[in-house]
Amino acid sequence: MGTQTSKNSGSMPGHSIPNQVKVTTQTVVEMKQRGEKISMLTAYDFTMARIIDAAGIDVLLVGDSASNVMAGNDTTVPITLEHMIYHTQCVERGVERALVIADMPFMSYQVTPKEALINAGRLMKEAGAHAVKLEGGRTIIDTVKKIVDAGIPVMGHLGLTPQSIYQFGTYKVRAKEQTEADQLIEDALKLQEVGIFALVLEKIPSALAAEVTKQLHIPTIGIGAGQGCDGQVLVVHDMLGMNKHFSPRFLRLYADFELMMTQAVQQYVEDVKTKDFPNENEQYA
Ligand code: KIV
Repeated sequence: MGTQTSKNSGSMPGHSIPNQVKVTTQTVVEMKQRGEKISMLTAYDFTMARIIDAAGIDVLLVGDSASNVMAGNDTTVPITLEHMIYHTQCVERGVERALVIADMPFMSYQVTPKEALINAGRLMKEAGAHAVKLEGGRTIIDTVKKIVDAGIPVMGHLGLTPQSIYQFGTYKVRAKEQTEADQLIEDALKLQEVGIFALVLEKIPSALAAEVTKQLHIPTIGIGAGQGCDGQVLVVHDMLGMNKHFSPRFLRLYADFELMMTQAVQQYVEDVKTKDFPNENEQYA
C-alpha cells in the first residue's frame, strides 16, 4: 500500500516530483510510527488541489467546510452529499500524490449504517475519494464498523464537531471538563477498535490531545489541539488569509491573499478604466 506510485509520475512538467510515492492510509500510520509529522489542508476545487498537492502536502481533506468557504453558509449543516461528490471529483483530478479524504456531510451517515455505507461508497466510486471522514464517537461506532468492514478507510473526528453546532450552541473549546475529556478518550479508543486509520481532534485542550495521541497507535491530526498531535490540519482559505473575519487563537496566517487579490483586482480595474489594458502586445493583429 505504501509503495504505490502516482498516476503521472515524472510526466507533468512543473506539477509533481518524478517517481514520487503516493500517500496512503498506511503511509500516515507509518509516519506516526517513525515520528514524522503529518501535514493536512482542506481543498475543494481542482486548481487549489493541484497547487497544494504539488507543494508537497501529505493529506487533502475535502472538508464539509466547503459549506462555509465555498458556498457562504454559516454552518456545515446545509451541504449535501451531491455537493461533496462534486467537490471531491474536482479535487481528485488535481491530485497526484496526496491522500484524498472526503467528509461525509450531515445526515448522510446518521440515519442507518446501511445508508451510511451506500453514501460512503458513492464518495469512493463516483468521486474518487481514498477515504471518508465522519464526526462523532460512541453513537456512530456500528456505522464506522460497517464502512470499514466494506473496505473503505475511515478517519474519525472528535472534540468540536461542527455538524453538531445546533446541539453545542457555540464553537468554544470542547472537553475542558474531566467528564467530557474521559468520554473523548473512550470514544477515541472505541473508534480505533473498529478500525479507523486516523483521528481528527478539533479544538480541545492540548494536554488532552497529547494524551489521546499517546494512547492511540493510529495518528491524530489536530486543529486547535496543540503540538502533541501526530499531524496538523487547517482550512486552506483561513491559512492563506482569505477569511480575515475568522481569527481563532490556533490559526497561523501564512499569506495575505485577501490583500493580494484586492490589490490585483484594483489595479486591473484601473488599467481597464485608463485604457492601459490591453496594450499593443496584448491584442491580435
Ligand atoms: O471540514 C473541515 O474543514 C474539517 C476540518 C476543520 C478538520 O473537518
